[in-house]
Amino acid sequence: MRETLKQLRSIVGNDGFITDLSTAETLLNDQRGLYVGHAAAIVQPRTTAELAKAVRLCVDAGIGVVPQGGNTGYCGGATPDESGTEVLFNLSRMARVIEIDKDGFSMTAQAGVTLAAAQQAAAKHQLLLPLSMGSEASCQLGGNVSTNAGGLAVLRYGTTRELVIGLEVVLPDGRVWSDMKGLRKDNTGYDLKQLFIGAEGSLGIISTVQLRLYPMPNSRITAWLSISNLAAAVTILGLLRKELGDCITSFEYISREALAMVVRSIPGCRNPIDTTEDHHALVELSAFGDDAALNVEFEQVLMGGIEQGVIGDAVIAQTEEQRLAFWKLREMIPSAEKQLGGSVKHDVSIPISELCSYTEDASIAMKASFPNCGLSIYGHVGDGNLHFNVLPPEHEESDVYLRGNSVAISDLIHSMATGRNGSFSAEHGIGKLKRDTLEKLGDPVGLELMRQIKATIDPRGLMNPGKVL
Ligand code: MLT
Ligand code: ZN
Repeated sequence: MRETLKQLRSIVGNDGFITDLSTAETLLNDQRGLYVGHAAAIVQPRTTAELAKAVRLCVDAGIGVVPQGGNTGYCGGATPDESGTEVLFNLSRMARVIEIDKDGFSMTAQAGVTLAAAQQAAAKHQLLLPLSMGSEASCQLGGNVSTNAGGLAVLRYGTTRELVIGLEVVLPDGRVWSDMKGLRKDNTGYDLKQLFIGAEGSLGIISTVQLRLYPMPNSRITAWLSISNLAAAVTILGLLRKELGDCITSFEYISREALAMVVRSIPGCRNPIDTTEDHHALVELSAFGDDAALNVEFEQVLMGGIEQGVIGDAVIAQTEEQRLAFWKLREMIPSAEKQLGGSVKHDVSIPISELCSYTEDASIAMKASFPNCGLSIYGHVGDGNLHFNVLPPEHEESDVYLRGNSVAISDLIHSMATGRNGSFSAEHGIGKLKRDTLEKLGDPVGLELMRQIKATIDPRGLMNPGKVL
């Protein structure tokens, strides 16, 4: 090991090689505090060539390789194990936007570029990188692609997978596989890049990405609605889609309980509508052309919703500050949960027609099996994706409760989701956290195929060991 580490240092240089791990806790542990990792070393290559050499060296020496982007994931997918024998590959120094192709509407960037930096680079050319999420200041493109991240604009633009038009990947044997032609049409056999999207580094390390960009819309409208329940949210979404078509960029649901937590624990957050009884929806539209005309149409749909009784009240943001304040109420829910002692987090997706009955049944089942637990339900209703999070009862010690009950709680929520043709991981991946769940609830033939693919590309099982499969 000592000799391999020496050679690794010579590949990435002194400034890309961390052995004093006491200073690197934030890289070694996952951000939710579920896993404490150790590593033989942390390397931070600058180029694909360095990355490829370093990976090959580790694999030849039988050392496990753990890829890491911004370390913002929820499932421990970027955390090394506890043995201290794996090498953590942190990609934050591969942070160069290589090219913006204005005519081709695409961007090429190294995997360590943060999502926010990539959005800004596109915006300088009046182009939109529509991937958007709470962690965008620190999550990285390689991680976004590796987890097929979802986020806040999937309704309009799809998940990361739909934005990827090219990839370069370092394989476990050090070869570099590259499909960076940026073609929208290319039916020449298997579309291999799809294998690496969502593979969470278990088949190789994504080193460069090529992403689809969109024209930057010139008008945007954001509204905060009070609604009676989740069913009303689904109805309103249907109305909006019917009347306004594709210009609905985001449609988020925020339950009464989730909002109450944010208002209680995050300074400066307040509900713009004077109600503590209702649930809420955050709607954002974006379009080209006349802002005023879109506003009128939108207001008409909202009025119709109020008349039908599915909308209680609605506020349209009049300033950018107000718009950001609406979004803060939604985006701060995970922080509020954390501040109040944590939660058992879930990331289910359900066919939209069954979303409400699933939520009702799961809420009843939770209260029956875990009396006095709290529920914080929110998420991307437009995508059928809810975060159905369970909070410890108020009188219980949070840590103790979460440690003792998380597995049983998640088993119930997950099996109820798959029982309705839903998914137990809509946008956060598998990582370490849901590996057993995948084993238990995954389709056996599908799992077998995944294992065969893994064995072909990574026969020694050294790419992100213990994750996904
Ligand atoms: C979100 O929707 O805010 C993120 O996916 C994080 C979470 O699960 O809460
Ligand atoms: Zn989410």
